[in-house]
Amino acid sequence: MRRTRRIMALAAVVVCWLCAPGAQGANGAGKACVDSPGQVLRACVGVDAAGGAYYDVTRGGRAILTHSALGLRFAGKANGQVTRIQRVRRSSADTTWEQPWGEERVIRDRHEEMRVSLSGPHAVPFDVVFRVFDDGLGFRYDYPAFGAHEAVAIVDELTEFALQGEWSAWWYYARQRERDEYLYHKAPLWEVTLAETPLTLQGDGLYLSIHEAELVDYASMNLRRVAEHTLKADLMPWSDGVLVRRTGPFRTPWRMVLVSPTPMGLADSRIELNLNEPSAIADTSWIEIGKYVGVWWGMHIGRYTWASGPKHGATTENVEHYMDFAAEHGFHGVLAEGWNTGWDGDWTANGPRFSFTESTPDFDLAAITRYGRTRGVRLIGHNETAGAAENYERQLDPALALYESQGMRTVKTGYVRPNGSIERTLADGGIGHEWFAGQYMVRHDQKVVEAAAAHHIAIDAHEPVKDTGLRRTWPSMVSREAARGQEYNAWARPTSPPDHLTILPFTRMLSGPMDFTPGIFDLQFGHTELRERVQSTLAVQLAEYVVLYSPIQMAADLPENYRARPDAFRFIEDVPTDWEVTRTLAASIGEYVITARKERHGNDWYLGAISNEQARTVDIALDFLDEGATYEAQIYRDGPDADYRTNPQSLEIVRQRVRREDHLAIALAPGGGQAIRFRRLPD
Ligand code: NOJ
Ligand code: CA
Repeated sequence: MRRTRRIMALAAVVVCWLCAPGAQGANGAGKACVDSPGQVLRACVGVDAAGGAYYDVTRGGRAILTHSALGLRFAGKANGQVTRIQRVRRSSADTTWEQPWGEERVIRDRHEEMRVSLSGPHAVPFDVVFRVFDDGLGFRYDYPAFGAHEAVAIVDELTEFALQGEWSAWWYYARQRERDEYLYHKAPLWEVTLAETPLTLQGDGLYLSIHEAELVDYASMNLRRVAEHTLKADLMPWSDGVLVRRTGPFRTPWRMVLVSPTPMGLADSRIELNLNEPSAIADTSWIEIGKYVGVWWGMHIGRYTWASGPKHGATTENVEHYMDFAAEHGFHGVLAEGWNTGWDGDWTANGPRFSFTESTPDFDLAAITRYGRTRGVRLIGHNETAGAAENYERQLDPALALYESQGMRTVKTGYVRPNGSIERTLADGGIGHEWFAGQYMVRHDQKVVEAAAAHHIAIDAHEPVKDTGLRRTWPSMVSREAARGQEYNAWARPTSPPDHLTILPFTRMLSGPMDFTPGIFDLQFGHTELRERVQSTLAVQLAEYVVLYSPIQMAADLPENYRARPDAFRFIEDVPTDWEVTRTLAASIGEYVITARKERHGNDWYLGAISNEQARTVDIALDFLDEGATYEAQIYRDGPDADYRTNPQSLEIVRQRVRREDHLAIALAPGGGQAIRFRRLPD
């Protein structure tokens, strides 16, 4: 990833804090403020009379966050309050940089930065660094004063988000068994107890998203409501209760707040990426993105097994059959789950028994990858660990070397294990039980990504630590799950309701790409009860490819179900996974979402629309299309009789000529959707 254009970068160091806009008072008390480049947002840092640092955020004069605490507490330190603003340094940035792959190729980073150094006679001194953009802000702590070998233990993060006014939230309880695989519920803020981030809030004409960026060697942050309108950072602890361990000077992840008058503004914000560091991978050409199929849905619906036996899915013959299908339809990869030993019996309880190098006897790895080469298709590896991270780390290098030698470029990982029960061997030989996103697993996930990158292998992590934009630094982190994906539509009771897909783009998806595994065509797979099948129309399954961004997208259903509907499958064949531009056109969170994206390396636009259980028609101006161009809109829409409850398979495909001056009435059935390819016609 390289900086393509540097419009302006100005770094003005201001040692006099009184030079700051909004500064008042003397003796280091008072406030230092910073405005966003377009004067939309203002953030101020202050030290109050009783001691203690805090910050405020306003938007156009309206208070959003007031008097919210800042700082950390350490084991064995005096932990006195900071009492003075020692120094304020400022800088501005307006640059652009390019993503090697992404929802948008060129990203603009335009912000004002303010670094406030805080100190006190009995306090551990620290800097708080604010970066304020017009559509949100980030702030982080920098503790520069520790000795190079000084080990510290964080026992509390004081960061608060003290909201002004009434807000409602889309949230789920953070520390549940199935990690991040839950449905969101909308509730007044005062009902929230402990929420995962990104946490999306709506109040009086504004939308907020509170999340974090660049989560490296730290614990994942949840938000605990500590007063009627106040949320506080709640870090997932180690098994011994310490929140974070660090040695020497360190800085924390960014705490991030997106602020927008519309849900679309949240979805189209790029602050999270901008807060992350540029790529650590100089040559990203080996990172492969695109579409894949796999021996996967068959296991989830009970046709195949991961375990060996008569229904074993990952046999040489079956995987080669999938490779034929992938080659015929232009897909780059084939995933094979259950290819290795360790699945027999209750695999979720047998993590330490998984081998990542030994295939089952009916799976010939070398023959399969050789066959793939003749068909121009790569095998995508699968490493289910069942949460046995130590077992995986022990085998990591030989396993990755094996995959690299076989020409594999992507591995999907998995950590199916109840939250809070990841086993870690302690110094005394005992076992610690870790959270799936405490510092231990944050370190583990990073270790896996870096080890894999050394072997030119990209990672698609399931049951991972949530995304915090690290794909900017590690573009080989191609996708992850970290939400309730399509798999729940196979076996959960009930399966996911239609509104789930209209909430995800404004909650989980704000953190980054999701391997949702879209594209189920046989929506009933033998079930008549709504609560036991995919609760959507067929058009929704196509729209998912546009609405739910991921640079790798699975065509998740069985090949035979695609062969039965070549007309609908055409959209999946056509839709790219890499984009030049993204525009979220219209939405009401929980009701509907309409997204448009322009392909990279081409001229076509794509649109995806998804509704909840209500039918609706949304008028969309096509003014995102290129000026002067004429397009053939290939429209895949719900049939007139489509309804996710009674007639989910009803799909109608029509074509019409359009230009950017035109409007389209996007009609969506109950639980319905629409997918459009705008094919640019020769001028
Ligand atoms: C859960 C993952 O999300 C799913 O995709 C995978 O098939 C199973 N674990 C087995 O590894
Ligand atoms: Ca999962």
